[in-house]
Amino acid sequence: MRKPVIAGNWKMYKTPKESLAFVDEFLPLVKGHDRDEILLFPTLTSLERVLDATAGTNVHAGAQTMHWLNEGAYTGQTSPTMLLSIGCRQVLLGHSEQRLYLNETFERVNLKLKAAISHGIAPMVCFGELLTEREQMQTEEVLRTQVRTALHNISASEAQRLAIAYEPIWAIGTGITASPEMANEAHEIIRQELAHCCGAETAQNTRILYGGSVKPDNISELMAQEQIDGALVGGASLVAETFAKIVQYK
Ligand code: PGA
Repeated sequence: MRKPVIAGNWKMYKTPKESLAFVDEFLPLVKGHDRDEILLFPTLTSLERVLDATAGTNVHAGAQTMHWLNEGAYTGQTSPTMLLSIGCRQVLLGHSEQRLYLNETFERVNLKLKAAISHGIAPMVCFGELLTEREQMQTEEVLRTQVRTALHNISASEAQRLAIAYEPIWAIGTGITASPEMANEAHEIIRQELAHCCGAETAQNTRILYGGSVKPDNISELMAQEQIDGALVGGASLVAETFAKIVQYK
């Protein structure tokens, strides 16, 4: 049984004050909710405060990315040990906005993934195809290559705390969602490739979340799919009441 994860990706939104106001409103709304794991990815300036404000609750928080080295002359970067020093034990890696606008590559995601694992930070790695790739029927090949590159040399035991998010790039922030069947099919491809890389048991146990315009009114049909083990929610995670509705899907 894979426990579902509902994660909110706040991207470059919310000051620390706004983040804390969200947490204050959100915690009572999801109090006692145990069916799904609940996770927030705030910006770095809010992360420590959100971690402190959610400590001991059913809501967890992680960083939106990190570097793979512990320190060095890398302006603008944050290291795994720095995340650990503020109590952060989860990280999102390879989000498509990092790939599209900040030159993130799956080779680097692989380095970051290895660093996260060796530091005991649970990684959530994002995969997904462009609209042109889908139109040219390249989705399967693209996803398989992405998974193979990101998971290169990751063993089954190392992949134990790995989670994956399938986010078709054309569905992110566009209001267009992949149909539940389309998402399910992509998740199946990712799970097969995961089995090739890290073994059948890892593939069976790894949560694969769907992301891309998830809203309170489409979450239930997505979660009804066999291969969908959660959601990575951008825009609709910014309002406490809306995100709580998503967490409480039927
Ligand atoms: P969206 O973003 O829900 O606003 O489409 C999802 C994501 O980028 O993680």
